[in-house]
Amino acid sequence: MANVSIQDLKKTYDGKQDILSGLNLDIRDGEFCVLVGPSGCGKSTLLRMLCGLEEISGGQLAIGGEVVHHLPPAKRGIAMVFQSYALYPHMNVYKNMAFGLKIAGSNKHDIDERIRHAAGILKIDHLLNRLPRELSGGQRQRVAIGRAIVRKPRLFLFDEPLSNLDAALRVQTRLEIAKLHKQLAATIVYVTHDQVEAMTLGDKIVVMHDGQIQQAGTPLELYQHPQNLFVAGFIGSPKMNLLPATVTEVLDDGLQVTIGGGQSLRVDVAPGAVRVGERVTLGLRAEHIHENTSGSEQLTGRVNLVEHLGEANFIYLSLTGGQDVVVRGDGNRTIAIGEHLALSADSHAFHVFDADGRALRRLKPGNVVSSRHH
Ligand SMILES: Nc1ncnc2c1ncn2[C@@H]1O[C@H](COP(=O)(O)OP(=O)(O)OP(=O)(O)O)[C@@H](O)[C@H]1O
Ligand SMILES: [Mg+2]
Repeated sequence: MANVSIQDLKKTYDGKQDILSGLNLDIRDGEFCVLVGPSGCGKSTLLRMLCGLEEISGGQLAIGGEVVHHLPPAKRGIAMVFQSYALYPHMNVYKNMAFGLKIAGSNKHDIDERIRHAAGILKIDHLLNRLPRELSGGQRQRVAIGRAIVRKPRLFLFDEPLSNLDAALRVQTRLEIAKLHKQLAATIVYVTHDQVEAMTLGDKIVVMHDGQIQQAGTPLELYQHPQNLFVAGFIGSPKMNLLPATVTEVLDDGLQVTIGGGQSLRVDVAPGAVRVGERVTLGLRAEHIHENTSGSEQLTGRVNLVEHLGEANFIYLSLTGGQDVVVRGDGNRTIAIGEHLALSADSHAFHVFDADGRALRRLKPGNVVSSRHH
């Protein structure tokens, strides 16, 4: 396996608008790196440039210390698994897995050994004689992964590999990919639109938008310390609540702000260069807003919709000032549409973003795990 070094990587089509405008990213040997970002932000383009299906417009790509962007795909030691399995329909599973190795000139014995090994890992040993059309979607995707494994690549690229599978199979195949990553100590770059996949699989998550990397870090770093408004709104499901606010007082260790409807709130952040009168955005995760029965509420809202998940509810409310928020509540509590709830949030649970969307430093970042037990 190998590390990946992406330096000042650029992509334009016909010299027009930048698709990628100078990406810098290091992926460690054996790291599971997840790429996320809105549709069209260039995730697939980046994978295609890594494996050589697309030319780069500038910068440098190196794998295992070797500059590879001028090499043809077959010379890069990369295997890619796509959303559509792209199996040869007239070949059985065994032949599908053998095909690339045969072309590369491996001998029969070696090919057989590699296929049996990969089939064992993926539990598709009993399917080797079947045609793709005789397999379920999940089985086909495992064959596609098997075809990648037998090539013993330096780097695996996955482009939304689970998005064609039903919910149960997605979970199962996700766990298998996690195991595979450990077993093979593989370096993986993995594209997904699924928050749970990104949070659970990634050693590192890279958020892309506007041709740039908005932030790269561990799943918890991104969840707890989004460095700008885009990442704050992108990472996490349900989305972080974002409320426009005006600064009324700058303190040493926080700000006093008002939100629409006139409610005044105290937030614990390093004020930095923020001044009285400045427009900021407050960010608050659903699990950090609590129903308040003590009478010291900071916020009140009217319930529009309740989603029952079983162990918890997502309660969608409109605050007195008109802003919509979602709150994570106790699953055992029955809540009626139209009910008025008194809410509160700890002053240190707030994220604050300045007028340019940059996060102010949090002084006591809310701990995701313990905050559920308030
Ligand atoms: N051959 C091409 N010529 C011109 N523009 C292209 C070409 N291929 C892709 N693009 C553009 O490049 C941008 C990035 O596309 P890409 O497929 O990488 O997005 P993505 O992040 O993978 O999106 P999705 O999540 O929808 O798969 C898009 O705006 C797309 O329209
Ligand atoms: Mg794509």
